Amino acid sequence: MTTVSMTVNGTKVSRDVEDTTFLAFFLRETLGLTGTHVGCDTTQCGCCVVLMNGTSVKSCTVLAAQAEGADVTTIEGLAKDGELHPVQRAFHECHALQCGFCTPGMIMAGVDLITNYPGTLTEGVVRHEMEGNLCRCTGYHNIVKAVLTAAAEMRPAKTAAE
Ligand code: FES
Ligand code: FES
Repeated sequence: MTTVSMTVNGTKVSRDVEDTTFLAFFLRETLGLTGTHVGCDTTQCGCCVVLMNGTSVKSCTVLAAQAEGADVTTIEGLAKDGELHPVQRAFHECHALQCGFCTPGMIMAGVDLITNYPGTLTEGVVRHEMEGNLCRCTGYHNIVKAVLTAAAEMRPAKTAAE
């Protein structure tokens, strides 16, 4: 066992966990934050993406102990004061989900892309950069549209139609 301490969605938490506990299971089972989904457990689907110190990670592949001292944001931490985050709002408005299983990971990956991508975001860039997120419902067209819609709001000078 090891004691891990981190900040999750703005709240400091400290828990004893098995050394082999992955962050996804720490979030879901220890903290009860089940918005982070586990679709494959083998680093392929992206359903488990959360932000760690502002950068997206596949939390099924990060040990909870590796997040010691980190600032972690899950899908539950995006909305502020009852207002959806622009990426959440864009997914709603663009009908970018079907079953919704991939949606938390897609949104968190979209937030990272919009926040951290240094160049101009185009449809091609979004498709390429988010290839690590799979949608079993194959709703990619509207997912890409939603990310670009949010990007146009959040960083208009660095977003372009192709
Ligand atoms: S559950 Fe982490 S990549 Fe699929
Ligand atoms: S909306 Fe069903 S997996 Fe993407």
